[in-house]
Amino acid sequence: MSTASDPPADRRRILTGLRPSGPSHVGHYAGAFSQWLALQDEYESFFLLADYQVSDYADNLPWIRWGLWEVALDWLGVGLDPERSHFVIESGVPEFAELTLHLSWFLGLGHLQRNPTLKAELADLEAATASVPVAFFNYPVMQIANILLPLAHLVPVGDDQLPHIEMTRDVAIRFNRRFGQVFVVPEGRVGQVPRLVGTDGKGKMGTSAGNAIFLKDSEDTLRAKIRGMFTDPKRLRATDPGTVEGNPVFMYHDAFNPDTAEVDDLKARYRVGRVGDVEVKDRLFQAMNALLAPIRERRASWAARPDDVRDVLAAGTAALRQRAGPVMQQVRTGLGLDYLTDGPPPPPPGAP
Ligand code: TRP
Repeated sequence: MSTASDPPADRRRILTGLRPSGPSHVGHYAGAFSQWLALQDEYESFFLLADYQVSDYADNLPWIRWGLWEVALDWLGVGLDPERSHFVIESGVPEFAELTLHLSWFLGLGHLQRNPTLKAELADLEAATASVPVAFFNYPVMQIANILLPLAHLVPVGDDQLPHIEMTRDVAIRFNRRFGQVFVVPEGRVGQVPRLVGTDGKGKMGTSAGNAIFLKDSEDTLRAKIRGMFTDPKRLRATDPGTVEGNPVFMYHDAFNPDTAEVDDLKARYRVGRVGDVEVKDRLFQAMNALLAPIRERRASWAARPDDVRDVLAAGTAALRQRAGPVMQQVRTGLGLDYLTDGPPPPPPGAP
């Protein structure tokens, strides 16, 4: 049996992650974690808690310090397996920072500014602050370093992150062309479930938007949140024909209810006004609770053993550092920073 600390040399690798700003919600599960779960058998996986990528340390650090443990518990709860996969604390790997610095020479500012995801984030930031921190431009480079350092082959992400993967490939190719085959040129993979709408039906589900169902929510909280969900606003009575398309309750049925025959039946009856919201929501609660109950239980059992969680995070972070060592050595040598290896070199042409 192979263990996380002794991976077979030929196993292909994944790196993916998120900013740990709070507990994860069912949108994270549908859009990301369920896909990671399916991939962790096949790939040696590095799951990154991207704490370096905080937009404002002073304000956000208490959230990150708390959120990092919350997310680690969520990952353990859904069944990401620390025996096979590595949970990595980004700031525990200073090589990320070093590689970011080197790679920042390989990416033009104009290139960053044309990235559609960054363009939107930059516009928000410019509206909110007097002066955009240089760190904003470091973070996409850091993300490239996150992927390239462990020589990841595959990066499962949301579709908003695809432009970042494109930049990563571009940087890897250009670095390799100049300095030899150091990096793997990675591929992105987007999951099947698009971004989940919030329980209010207004926008995407967000950790602090007040419209999220968290993985750690109790059964009662789950029931109450589903009861309070928005449905078809034009439908006043159970006998009114209702609209299924764009209706959050049915979007959740599609995402979380594996009994497609039941979902089809509910939709058909909803359209002709032969089922009430209460029944539709109750069936949704049953389906989601069946999914979340074991997650909740596994999560709680880890939460009761903080020392074990600490060990998981320490081991995963160490595993990445171990892989980083030789890669950084190659990068430094490639860049010519190995000044002390051979003593003084011959002067370059034209030297005085
Ligand atoms: N920027 C990503 C997010 O906000 C998180 C992230 C950091 C990431 N480094 C990564 C995702 C590397 C994929 C690969 O969600």
